[in-house]
Amino acid sequence: MNINTNNPSANNFEKMIIKDIVLQNFKAAEVMEKYGIDFCCKGKRPLDEAIAEKNINGEKFLQELENTFQKNSGEEERFETWDLHFLAQYIVNNHHGYIKEIIPVITAHLEKLNNVHGAKHTFLKNVLDEFESLANELLNHMEKEERILFPIIKYLVDSKRFNERPRTEGYGTIKAPIKKMESEHDTAGNAAENIRTLTSNYKLPADACTTFRVTYQELEEFEKDLHKHVHLENNILFPKSILLEEELLTRKK
Ligand SMILES: [Fe+2]
Repeated sequence: MNINTNNPSANNFEKMIIKDIVLQNFKAAEVMEKYGIDFCCKGKRPLDEAIAEKNINGEKFLQELENTFQKNSGEEERFETWDLHFLAQYIVNNHHGYIKEIIPVITAHLEKLNNVHGAKHTFLKNVLDEFESLANELLNHMEKEERILFPIIKYLVDSKRFNERPRTEGYGTIKAPIKKMESEHDTAGNAAENIRTLTSNYKLPADACTTFRVTYQELEEFEKDLHKHVHLENNILFPKSILLEEELLTRKK
C-alpha cells in the first residue's frame, strides 16, 4: 500500500500496520520513538492498537506522523528496494560496526558514573548491569548473523543470480535461524526498554555532570540505532529472504 504524500491526512494511519508506515518513510520512526511506539519488535500490528496501549495523545501523534509524509519532508530511505546481500552488508557495516565500536565507550562511561555517583543514584548499577548483559547478547547475536544467517542469504541471492536451485540440506530452511534471531531481537528490545525505564526516560537528575549528559545521549542514540537495525532485519531483510528461499525452492532443477 502506497501512502499519499500529497494529502497525508487522507491516509488512514490508525488502521495501518506499524511497520508498513515506517517502511514507506523512515522519518516516521522518529515520531514513533518520541511517543514510545515500538515499530521493530512489535511492528506487525495496527497502529491504533499501539496508540490505545500507550495511552498517548493520539490526535497530536497522528498529526506529527502526517507531517513526516508531507512532500519534501526530507530524504527517504528506500531500503526495501535493495538487493538482500547488499542490505545485509549495509547492516554489518553500519549497525554492527557502530555497536562494536560504541559498547566499550558506553561501558566505560557507565562505570565512571557508577563509581562517582552510584552511592547517591543507586539505579546506575542496575543500568550498568543491564547494559553489560545487552552488550554481551548483542555481540553474540551479531556473530551468529554474520557467520551463519547472512552467508545463507548471500547463498540464496547467488543461487537466484546463477539461476540455480539452492541446496538447503545443510541448514534446513532459513526460517529456523530467522526465528531464533527474531527472538533475540525481542530480548534486546526489552533490555533497551528496561534501561529507558531505569533512567526515567533518560531524564537527567538535577545534579547531573557532563559525563551523565553524554552517557544518556549515547544510550539514547544506541537505542535508536538498535530500533532501526532491528527494523531493517525483522521487517525487510528476513521476510524477503524467506520469500526468496520459497521462490527458489519451487524451481525444478
Ligand atoms: Fe539482528
